[in-house]
Amino acid sequence: MKALEFRNVSFSYGKDAFAIRNLNFSVEEGEFVAVLGHNGSGKSTLARLSDGLLEADGGEIFALGMPVEQKNLYEVRKNVGIVFQNPDNQAVASIVEDDVAFGAENVGLPREEIGKRIDFALKAVGMETHRHATISRLSGGQKQRVAIAGVLALKPKVMILDESTAMLDPRGRREITDVVLRLNKEEHITVVLITHFLEEALLADRAVVMNKGEIVMEGTPADIFSRHEELLTYNLALPRIGQICKGLREGGIPVGDTLDVEKLAEEIAQCVSSRSI
Ligand SMILES: Nc1ncnc2c1ncn2[C@@H]1O[C@H](COP(=O)(O)OP(=O)(O)O)[C@@H](O)[C@H]1O
Ligand SMILES: [Mg+2]
Repeated sequence: MKALEFRNVSFSYGKDAFAIRNLNFSVEEGEFVAVLGHNGSGKSTLARLSDGLLEADGGEIFALGMPVEQKNLYEVRKNVGIVFQNPDNQAVASIVEDDVAFGAENVGLPREEIGKRIDFALKAVGMETHRHATISRLSGGQKQRVAIAGVLALKPKVMILDESTAMLDPRGRREITDVVLRLNKEEHITVVLITHFLEEALLADRAVVMNKGEIVMEGTPADIFSRHEELLTYNLALPRIGQICKGLREGGIPVGDTLDVEKLAEEIAQCVSSRSI
């Protein structure tokens, strides 16, 4: 079954241009898809349409086969969880376990079940030792992991992370991407990772690039990465190491595209040694 499906979806916030234009997009259950795109390309709108926070002007949206419309919103939101960008305004309680429990309490789960869900969710994000901690004292990465745990406590089948690493330092970003990868591989949660960090997209099974409300590129992350010029036209800069690979090739050292520093060093070493013989 498809976890998410957009059929010819359009949306505009008012009289302005379309934020999403005739979009066709789908995600299979269990898949990990990265959504890339410059600011204003429509990524957050896509996320908000997916769980009915916004209603499409045209086209159809399905979440796990259910039409995303008023009468299904409760079911849809139980199954599709969104983690947003800012770690500082997602918490609703001051203590970690209360915050994680909030969503599960709202859907009326029995107390004992909520306890189990908190255990599961905190363990899944590696925050079980911070159960009684005060959220305001945590690092950005820890706060985002608590936000993820709050969504996980609802046992969603699909998680959408809308630039959830954007405000974090590299270490915090790594904490989140590690958790997300584990949730996808071990808990089989379908993941849509919205990001403007191209290197994060490499973790995904598939990547799409959005521009002006449309999907303009689609493929494996490696494929997307190799299309430098095209990425630039959509205002997406290659990560530094990608630029270095490109520079080396232009300078006559035929290395491939990689984000793995050791692999790149190995390739350079091979090129250089084969020349000196
Ligand atoms: N609340 C809003 N009101 C009016 N226009 C909006 C609103 N949110 C986003 N937009 C516009 O919709 C387009 C897509 O925005 P968004 O989905 O937030 O893009 P992204 O998440 O890729 O940065 C942009 O042109 C943006 O200015
Ligand atoms: Mg956004």
